[in-house]
Amino acid sequence: MAFSKIDLRNFRCFDSLSIDISSKSNLFYGKNGCGKTSILESIYVASSGRSFRTSNLESLIKKGSDAFIIKAYDDNTGSVLEVKKAKTKPINIKMNNSRVTISELVRAFPSFSIDSKTFFYNDNAPEYRRKNLDRGLFVASPDYAKDWFGYFRSLKQRNSALKLGDITQAKAYDSLLVDHGERLNSLRQSLIMEVKQIYDDIVYKLIQENQRANIFSNLDIYLKPGFDISQGLMESLLNSNNIDLKRKNTTVGPHKADVIFESKGLLIKDIFSRGEQKLLSILWSLSQNIYLGRAFNLNPILLLDDLSSELDAEMLDCFLPTLKYIENRFVFSNIVDLFDSKINEDEQSFKKFHVEQLK
Ligand SMILES: Nc1ncnc2c1ncn2[C@@H]1O[C@H](COP(=O)(O)OP(=O)(O)OP(=O)(O)O)[C@@H](O)[C@H]1O
Ligand SMILES: [Mg+2]
Repeated sequence: MAFSKIDLRNFRCFDSLSIDISSKSNLFYGKNGCGKTSILESIYVASSGRSFRTSNLESLIKKGSDAFIIKAYDDNTGSVLEVKKAKTKPINIKMNNSRVTISELVRAFPSFSIDSKTFFYNDNAPEYRRKNLDRGLFVASPDYAKDWFGYFRSLKQRNSALKLGDITQAKAYDSLLVDHGERLNSLRQSLIMEVKQIYDDIVYKLIQENQRANIFSNLDIYLKPGFDISQGLMESLLNSNNIDLKRKNTTVGPHKADVIFESKGLLIKDIFSRGEQKLLSILWSLSQNIYLGRAFNLNPILLLDDLSSELDAEMLDCFLPTLKYIENRFVFSNIVDLFDSKINEDEQSFKKFHVEQLK
């Protein structure tokens, strides 16, 4: 499912607002404080029950009001989603008038946000990249979610046994850990490979239009599985028994995985400038969204707040042609109307909204 229309009531600075979004690119522009982030946030809340900025959903209720309501409509299926948050009450989510849980919501309307942390994806700790990778697969594949829970349940029990110094008890969880862990690893591997293929195709096309995009080509992007793949997970666990006992923790396995971005053996975070890192993160997230859409028959929305921060005019020009290759909804914001006459709005199902004029 996918939103085509969104109505807001008492959401942050908006009393009431109704927006028809395009199935491809949507730019919300306007001056500081006009409500760009609020609009993107409302889409994220409607598709995940959470904010990408704050854990306090109550702060999103317009000052002086008692509740916010976000309604989203899917023109293709006729589905209506209603997300309501009243002061001191938990969030209430209904799809076609029936209550749904957050995990049902996340699967029905997946959305991913490129926020200030994702901009510098490569500068973050491995845990951040693992989470990012898992979230996509989690939403896309119920089997992955089952293995993920199974793996982390066994890992927790194994670690409790290690804390007691009981290696026999710890090893009793190995076969479950291996079973779930090998499957997690192979789905992660195939996601990275497929996303890399899409990423390479996009970069190749960008280079035809702008030589500056050359910097994004010929990168080595791969999954470090968290264990020695030539030995397999079972063997790796056996070989690390002594270290695990000493550290009272399981030191190998998919919970130690990372996604590595390198150029000629050097880590991207050590060589790319901030603008280059940001654009790389955007291109990677877009490629991941295309993959999730194609492979799992989803319609994921990608949200990007403040496109041009950190990017100079040349970098923006380098990014612009990417909009042609977007396959799902892309909703992004910027202070100024970046594209002016540079883009043919009809041809690319590209919609622009001047936020001050929406009120
Ligand atoms: N709960 C609320 N009630 C009323 N107004 C709010 C609430 N929360 C935030 N605001 C106001 O909403 C306005 C829009 O904020 P928002 O972050 O969406 O602006 P923006 O267009 O993204 O600005 P910037 O370009 O600075 O990022 C701000 O003036 C902010 O102070
Ligand atoms: Mg903002």
